Amino acid sequence: MNLAQFKQGQWNTAEIVKSDSISLHPGAHVLHYASTCFEGLKAFKHADGSINIFRMEQNIARLIQSSELLALPPVNAEQLKQMIVDLVKRYAAEVPLPPGSMYIRPTHLGTEVSIGKAAAPSNESMLYVLLSPVGDYFAGGSKPLRLLLADEARCASHMGVVKSGGNYASALQPIMKASKEAKADQVLFCPGGDVQETGAANFILIDGNEIITKSLDSSFLHGITRDSILTIARDRGMTVSERALTVDELLERSAKPNTEAALSGTAAVLTPVGTLIHQGKEYTVGSGVAGATTNALRQALNDIQWGKAEDKHGWLTKVC
Ligand SMILES: Cc1ncc(COP(=O)(O)O)c(C=O)c1O
Repeated sequence: MNLAQFKQGQWNTAEIVKSDSISLHPGAHVLHYASTCFEGLKAFKHADGSINIFRMEQNIARLIQSSELLALPPVNAEQLKQMIVDLVKRYAAEVPLPPGSMYIRPTHLGTEVSIGKAAAPSNESMLYVLLSPVGDYFAGGSKPLRLLLADEARCASHMGVVKSGGNYASALQPIMKASKEAKADQVLFCPGGDVQETGAANFILIDGNEIITKSLDSSFLHGITRDSILTIARDRGMTVSERALTVDELLERSAKPNTEAALSGTAAVLTPVGTLIHQGKEYTVGSGVAGATTNALRQALNDIQWGKAEDKHGWLTKVC
């Protein structure tokens, strides 16, 4: 991993070190007050052997925002970019060919030894970048997902934009309950009927030529895949409606035969949703199978990532 530390108001020079352990004082701020955030992005190997990272600047910007909202020391965008590029370059030979990729996990922790600082930020931190080769989420053909619509929030309403462990921990019990009681793959969090996101992906509804998804606010994570899919959809002449979507409207539109629903995310890419479960009743979305538009949008995104289509928005950073 590539590791840098923030002490006495500045970052030291990052260093590539073994990723088997880190050393933390048991009183470190992160272990008590959850001052931590992370990112997830991918590098792809193209047919010409080059290695290309997808939308790195956006992930770095999101980590900077998460760090700021958690009052962690300020991340230096240039330094983090160099840390990611250097590490990916060093392990270029281990980036799998598509549909595989190299998953990149930048992580930022508050390390100040400060049990007494429950109401004060950590003035020291650790930033590291981990790598892991990953396979294809779709290997073996994916079955459309079953989502349980829950009338609760995934996390505090001002924290949705922060990619922080606490948000994932607070969603675990509802997700485990949905799996056990409704055999659901995921929970779609819809507090007060407002369709937000699932535990680890954004939600989009496709009705004919229109894509409907919640407009950006502080309550959910602003997915970079979401933005990429919406951009590709606009390029293809689809109507993109970023606006509030209620559970009532979602269920009503889902009943139409041509409606499709999908989850977007770095891991999910664009995964079809076949069934919605609401108050004990099951609703099939459209025909219940992966829709043609979902498949086409996923393919269009993969084609850019895999170097098979023109990268006209400049989303790829070639590292070697
Ligand atoms: C809660 C949550 N929402 C949405 C997303 C999608 O974000 P992105 O497309 O940037 O991966 C993720 C991560 O994949 C997530 O964990």
